[in-house]
Amino acid sequence: MEWFVRAFLRASLVWLGLGVTLGVAMAVHPAWIVYRPAHLHMNLLGFVAMMIFGVALHVIPRFTGRPLHSARLAGAQWWVSNGGLASMLIGFVLRAEGIAGATIMLGSGGVASAIGAYGFIYNIWRTIGASEMQARRPEERPLPTLIRQQ
Ligand code: HEM
Ligand code: HEM
Repeated sequence: MEWFVRAFLRASLVWLGLGVTLGVAMAVHPAWIVYRPAHLHMNLLGFVAMMIFGVALHVIPRFTGRPLHSARLAGAQWWVSNGGLASMLIGFVLRAEGIAGATIMLGSGGVASAIGAYGFIYNIWRTIGASEMQARRPEERPLPTLIRQQ
C-alpha cells in the first residue's frame, strides 16, 4: 500500500473522530450549533471524501490493471486536501465567532480543497482513461482480430 493511501485512510479516521466529537458537543451544548458547518465538513469532506480518495487511489489502478497515473500528484493532493480542509475549518470557526480573518481562511482553504479535488479527478481520469493500446508496450498489444463475426 502506497504511503498516500495509508495517509488518506488515517486522515479520514482522524477527521471522523474529530467530527463526531464536535457533533456530540453540539448535541449536548446547543450554543455550539454555530459550528455546524465545521462539523459537517469534518465528516463529509474529512471522513467521507478522504476515505473515498484513499480507497479509490488504491483500488482503481487494480480494477483497471494499470498503474496510477501519478503517485506524486496523489501525494501532493494529500497535503493540499488536508491542509485546505484544516484552513476551512479554522475559517468556519472564526466566522461563527465573528473574528476578522475568517473569510481569508475559509476562502483559501476552500480553494485548496477544490484544487485537491481537481487533482484527484485528473489523476483518476487519466488512470481509467488510457486506452488498452496505450497502456501496453507495443510487443504486448493484442493482434488485430482477423475473423469478423457474422
Ligand atoms: C456521533 C455522531 C454525530 C453527532 C452526535 C452529530 C450531531 C449533529 C448535530 C447536533 C447537528 C446540528 C443539528 C442542528 O442544526 O440542529 C448535526 C448536523 C449535521 N451533521 Fe452531524 N453528528 C454526528 C455525525 C455525523 C456524521 C458522521 C455526518 C456525515 C457523514 C454528519 C453530518 C451532519 C450534517 C450534514 C449536518 C447538517 C445538517 C443540516 O444541514 O441541517 N454528522 N450533527
Ligand atoms: C471545496 C470544497 C468545499 C467548500 C469550499 C465548501 C464550502 C461550503 C460553505 C462556505 C458552506 C456554507 C456554510 C454556512 O452555512 O456558513 C457549505 C455548506 C455545505 N456544504 Fe460544503 N464545501 C465544500 C465541500 C463539500 C462537500 C464535499 C460536501 C459533501 C460531501 C459538502 C456539504 C455541504 C453541506 C451539506 C452544506 C450545508 C450546511 C448547512 O448549512 O446545513 N461541502 N459548504
